[in-house]
Amino acid sequence: MTERAQLRIAGDPRPLVLAVGQSILAAALEQGVDLDHACGGVCACSTCHVRVQQGLDCLSPPSEDELDQLDEAPGVGLDSRLGCQARLLRVPAGGAVAIAIPSWNRNAMREGSG
Ligand code: FES
Repeated sequence: MTERAQLRIAGDPRPLVLAVGQSILAAALEQGVDLDHACGGVCACSTCHVRVQQGLDCLSPPSEDELDQLDEAPGVGLDSRLGCQARLLRVPAGGAVAIAIPSWNRNAMREGSG
């Protein structure tokens, strides 16, 4: 059975999961979180930018291409990742990966959960 972590998104009360090997973007979309992904998840934009508040060390390390894209994104910090590139490598000790979607990006999200 695939190992899974909780995926917590700041401001979203839903109980989401992130499977080992799965990207944050794929998990979000699969569970109805409309995280923006203008390039379709091929590391050619930065609209899937998220800040990882917990579990950052359990994600796949960023590639040079990802770092280049993040250089172009507003509101970037040391905890910034592209949701389409960051894959879960192992379940964090606390059992959860917590992210925040930057406000400039959140504005692009549709109100999907009612
Ligand atoms: Fe474009 Fe992630 S969706 S870089």
